[in-house]
Amino acid sequence: MAFDPGFLDELRARTPIAAVIGRRTKLSRSGRNWKACCPFHGEKTPSFYVYDDHFHCFGCGVHGDVISFVMQSEGRSFPEAVEQLANEAGLDMPRQDPRQEARAQEARSLGDVLEAVQAVYRQALYQPGGRQALAYLRRRGLSDATIERFGLGWAGEGRGALLEALRGQDIGAEQLVQAGLMRVDERGAPRGELFFSRVMFPIRDRRGRLISFGGRTLGDAQPKYVNGPETALFSKRRALYNLDLARAALRDPAQKLIVVEGYMDVIALAQAGFEAAVAPLGTAMGAEQLELLWREASHPILCLDGDAAGARAALRVAELAMPLLTHERSLNFCRLDPKDDPDSLIRREGPQAMQRVLDGASSLAEELFQLMMAGVQQDVPEQRAALKKRLEAAAALIADKDLASEYRRALMERFFASSRRGGRNGGARSGAAKPPVRSAAIDTGALERLRLLTVLVLRSPALLPEIEDQFGRLDLPSPLDEIRDTVLDWFAELPSEEGLTAEACLEALEQQGLGDEARSLLHNGLVPASQAERNGLFSLEPIQQWWHFFGLVNFPAFVREVEQDMQAALANPSLQGLPEALVVRLRTLDRLRRGEENDDED
Ligand code: UTP
Ligand code: MN
Repeated sequence: MAFDPGFLDELRARTPIAAVIGRRTKLSRSGRNWKACCPFHGEKTPSFYVYDDHFHCFGCGVHGDVISFVMQSEGRSFPEAVEQLANEAGLDMPRQDPRQEARAQEARSLGDVLEAVQAVYRQALYQPGGRQALAYLRRRGLSDATIERFGLGWAGEGRGALLEALRGQDIGAEQLVQAGLMRVDERGAPRGELFFSRVMFPIRDRRGRLISFGGRTLGDAQPKYVNGPETALFSKRRALYNLDLARAALRDPAQKLIVVEGYMDVIALAQAGFEAAVAPLGTAMGAEQLELLWREASHPILCLDGDAAGARAALRVAELAMPLLTHERSLNFCRLDPKDDPDSLIRREGPQAMQRVLDGASSLAEELFQLMMAGVQQDVPEQRAALKKRLEAAAALIADKDLASEYRRALMERFFASSRRGGRNGGARSGAAKPPVRSAAIDTGALERLRLLTVLVLRSPALLPEIEDQFGRLDLPSPLDEIRDTVLDWFAELPSEEGLTAEACLEALEQQGLGDEARSLLHNGLVPASQAERNGLFSLEPIQQWWHFFGLVNFPAFVREVEQDMQAALANPSLQGLPEALVVRLRTLDRLRRGEENDDED
């Protein structure tokens, strides 16, 4: 089969080879070019070079352009690699090859299925069955025009409503499976619809084609949002909610590209006149999404929630962005008050309040400094030295040498200024103080317990339904926090608890690039945190172990929570005995209290 050479040239020109290779292996600058440890043969010192239009390894001799890199590194055929890169570059595939044609046909028909589904959802919103949903959206302040513009809909009741509504349209269960709207059982047979009793948010790609849906419950049922799974059309890591409309809005130079956390934030912003807002799709922002952003704007503004999780997310994105920065592309950050998101702020105080937040956005260097500074608990020499090291390490992540030294200078200036002005808040910009990224300097015993708590979950993800809340609130150091967030994201999207296996969990981590960290955690295994904990603990059930270590991390809080739950349970007249989950925690509490005495005797 032959592609038009002009098309291939354009594809190569539009695809930055270093960015593609950088996804596989860490690149560092070498003069005008890049070098790395070769991804095709094991080596410790880099002999793999990346030039403007090709790569070459002086160690093993592999050589090629961006297309052959994708072929070799991902095991693709030539046409598959071309197609993948063309998709990423937003280029239409020329259609000559019959196989290609067939695939395009399939993709188109998958798109057609999604369109038909979208029509069903939209209509349902205005039927009697959708009355509550429509009222819900209006109660949240959405105008009919906004509901229309974002194509919001209603999934109907029960796991069969969609198939029923599509009867007579030549769309069967198999196609709904492929479109990510139905699950399959162990034998691969369609098993029930993914979305029901949810308000539906269509998700489109950057060119406006439907690729998936997200759905929100009307109330407090968990999970609050469900997002469609990965399909031939939908890859979460490569999509951003509302990117198509945001791109169009950016033709107006007064609009700024804003990244927020949620669907509702994007929609509320658009209704308030900030039309170029996008959001990731229920996962943490990744490098591919940064690339998508930078295609549209040189300095997107990240607007993250004002809570501790928002601060963690900001720090993570900042560190992720560092190696990818150039003189033309960076990030700005703005922060809301804790408890606010853009939607709630606009609802309460109007668009002007949001505008003020955006106007107060700070540069990446500033944000990075503030975030790292917030981790310093006391203004003592040891902690300041650690902060300085961390700032230097952050600047060193930048591939471009000149830019790296500019950042180092900017960060060091802030560092020294903060000490002259005395104390940890010396350098803080005006406005609300930021929540700390870490609650306390973590001693090694505590660190070991936090690690144990994470390992236990990785080994037995079936613990998650019982411990989700507490696990989510733990103040974990990196990379445990990334691992935890990824595991919770994965859990939130799992259609049923049957899928809670260690293998699936590891795979989800793998997909977020955390496979190595997770394996090394698992590999190092369960090392008891102290002598006292060694006595008999590891013969207990995983859930008992988990609560034990959780209790040790913050004993007073654990006591308080268990006692509260106990009182709530006793106050419930319809209760027949205490719930099993509570009994497990009570026993743990009891054991911990006795254990404390033992400790004293030791
Ligand atoms: P938020 O909890 O901040 O939701 O989650 P929100 O957008 O403000 O929603 P409202 O205002 O309560 O309706 C932010 C984003 O995280 C993902 C969704 O993409 C959501 O928009 N998320 C959240 C999930 O995927 N699953 C969940 O259970 C919760
Ligand atoms: Mn919200």
